[in-house]
Amino acid sequence: MKRALTPGTFDPITSGHLDVITRAAQLVDEVVVAVAASPKKQPLFSLEERADLVCQATKHLSNVRVVPFDDLLVDFAEKMGATVVIKGLRAITDFEYEFQMTALNYQLNQALETLFIMSPPQYMYLSSSIVREIASLGGDVAQFVPECVNEALLKKFSA
Ligand code: COA
Repeated sequence: MKRALTPGTFDPITSGHLDVITRAAQLVDEVVVAVAASPKKQPLFSLEERADLVCQATKHLSNVRVVPFDDLLVDFAEKMGATVVIKGLRAITDFEYEFQMTALNYQLNQALETLFIMSPPQYMYLSSSIVREIASLGGDVAQFVPECVNEALLKKFSA
């Protein structure tokens, strides 16, 4: 059984994230979407809300499950029995940061492989913070996020 982790803060999950998760699910037996607590990022949505939105957005994918975590990624991967981390790679600006994280994770656990899936052009410049900003200013983000996230953002910013 080949199990992969797709980690992230998912504040909130976007169509770009969903694309990576969907493609990862075609490559391995099981994908665990690891929703990071990321307290330093002061997320807009709570960890529970973020994990719930990922669950709703991925419910049609039978080999995907969602687990929140707040430990070191390499430790969490070991705990979950995952041998590979799959992440999306967008514009070239992602590279340096991802390069650093991959190198450090490799240093911490050589048995854990990291693979990257290139984002398709329509998601190349998408990010959760851009989505939050557009939604907070009353813009329409329906084309960038799953329907459940669109509804959650409308609710969050209608208060
Ligand atoms: N589509 C759309 N957006 C994407 C994306 C994709 N395919 N891939 C990344 N992004 C965006 C996110 O939306 C987010 O945007 P924002 O910052 O504008 O809101 C941004 O990229 C960063 O994503 P995030 O999910 O926060 O991931 P990250 O690359 O910063 O890493 C963890 C998050 C959880 C993987 C990382 O912090 C981690 O491993 N934490 C555990 C602690 C640990 O082990 N630390 C040591 C690491 S060496």
